[in-house]
Amino acid sequence: MKKIIELIGEQVTSAFEKAGYDGGLGAVNLSNRPDLCQYQCNGAMAAAKKYHKAPIAIAGDVVELLKGNIIFESVEAVPPGFINITLSPSYIAGYIQNMSEDDRFGCNETEHKKTIVIDYGGPNVAKPLHVGHLRSAIIGESIKRIARYMGNHVIGDVHLGDWGLQIGLIITELRARSPKLPYFDEGFDGEYPAEAPFTMSELEQIYPYASGYSKEHPEYLAAARQATADLQAGNKGYNALWKHIIDVSVADIKKNYEKLDVSFELWKKESDVQQYIPDMVQMMKDKGYAYESEGALVVDVKEDTDMKEMPPCILLKSNGATNYETTDIATILERKKLFNADEIIYVVDKRQSLHFEQVFRCSRKTGIADDSTGLTFVGFGTMNGKDGKPFKTRDGGVLRLETLISDINEAVYKRIMENREMDENEARGIAEKVGLSAIKYGDLSNQASKDYIFDVDRFTSFEGNTGPYILYSIVRIKSVLAKYAESGNSMDSARNIIAPANKSETDLMLALLKYSDVIEQAYNDNAPHKICQFIYEVADAFNGFYHENRILAQEDSERKESWIRLLVLVKNILEQCINLLGFEAPEHM
Ligand code: ARG
Repeated sequence: MKKIIELIGEQVTSAFEKAGYDGGLGAVNLSNRPDLCQYQCNGAMAAAKKYHKAPIAIAGDVVELLKGNIIFESVEAVPPGFINITLSPSYIAGYIQNMSEDDRFGCNETEHKKTIVIDYGGPNVAKPLHVGHLRSAIIGESIKRIARYMGNHVIGDVHLGDWGLQIGLIITELRARSPKLPYFDEGFDGEYPAEAPFTMSELEQIYPYASGYSKEHPEYLAAARQATADLQAGNKGYNALWKHIIDVSVADIKKNYEKLDVSFELWKKESDVQQYIPDMVQMMKDKGYAYESEGALVVDVKEDTDMKEMPPCILLKSNGATNYETTDIATILERKKLFNADEIIYVVDKRQSLHFEQVFRCSRKTGIADDSTGLTFVGFGTMNGKDGKPFKTRDGGVLRLETLISDINEAVYKRIMENREMDENEARGIAEKVGLSAIKYGDLSNQASKDYIFDVDRFTSFEGNTGPYILYSIVRIKSVLAKYAESGNSMDSARNIIAPANKSETDLMLALLKYSDVIEQAYNDNAPHKICQFIYEVADAFNGFYHENRILAQEDSERKESWIRLLVLVKNILEQCINLLGFEAPEHM
């Protein structure tokens, strides 16, 4: 389906041409002054220079030709040269009708379909998932769903951190606690136990302890570094332990992501790309990109136009160990090789932007990613507490994701039960859905790159720009539709949308008309917050309409059926949008 802005633009373009001007001037936008008109064209302003004529005169010429066109209720030339456009109510209704008959509500898939790998989540094994990983999971999942909805082949990869010092620390601590374990016996040549010698909760306790201890004890840190290097060099016992760590952690991580309704097509690990590194490094040496500097092997990535410091990319440290950069470059190589990715999108804390800049430059310079491969960094800001500092527990510790989710669900549960009786189980089920909307919408409604304040009270409120408010609006529509059906009406009879009867209805339709534009922009800019803005506007317009019109009491059956059909469309569009954001509405709340 053509976008409404295109359709109006076609009319205006042909009027420009007929009046003797360049048709390219006829582009139409949403109005900046919704109080005056719905759409506007600013082409006459641009034309003035070219045609040595006052913009208002040009606008006047064009408007003259548009008068009488049935799609407009009014077209006006307004000083200094705007063309203000208001659509005729029946034209709006006709377009809305077409949207309601299309299962994509008029939003076309992209013409240039790509294979896109999205790198998000990025948890580290052996460390509990914390709120820092929350943003990556929420934003990445939404970007994935949007790109997929637009018709692309999209692969989500969790890219587990499993290869760094954290493993060495755990091995070192385990050795200190249980030196008799066979994993530490060099002479051991039997089968290692199938069961891990620790549980997840032990692991969660071991890592912070070891990490803290290593900061005070340099010899302990050195041992952990050595254990990491030995693991990477193939030490059998360490590798067996490392596998246990992964198994135990991944099971726990999966449980958490399930609660968030976040999923991944790939569960690849940093360590999986080790196999590519030797050849890759050799290639970079052979081609003269990599050279030795202070014992390390590096590739320069500085460019003349750089305004900021751009250190070289370190491929191998002086002890021969690989780096975070090395793994990420090898991962690009793998994603090209296995999936022939046209684009890779990274949803990672914006504090890692320099790292990715280096990785992208090095990959392009060395030919691992050609110019046509998109490498996109979507860096997100910090989630802060009400005090404006990074979100912590009350006693200052790192808040676990699980705790955060259950706190929110509890807050929502309390709100649901305020002044009301409801079955406990049912209320808990609803609270889970509403709680997820509170967390996700609270995050996604901010532009990703900005820091935001995580405010449980505000996010769980049923009023204002919140997830629960959006769900509440959907549930309200569901209940109107259910009542309509209960009183013996068939949905099938509600087929035709007729011209809006009043301003609140027109406003609701005008809001819906933006759908395809909004989705396209959210896709092009990797910006789920644009969908949030849109559904907030739609939900508000719906609630305005709901309060001003007695829908079920309407006596004119044609009007009533039209309203019902409109509500079905509003509900379907809102539900599609929240699906793209990664949550869903309950039946009631
Ligand atoms: N594991 C990393 C972290 O916790 C994030 C990984 C991001 N993805 C990547 N390809 N480097 O900081």
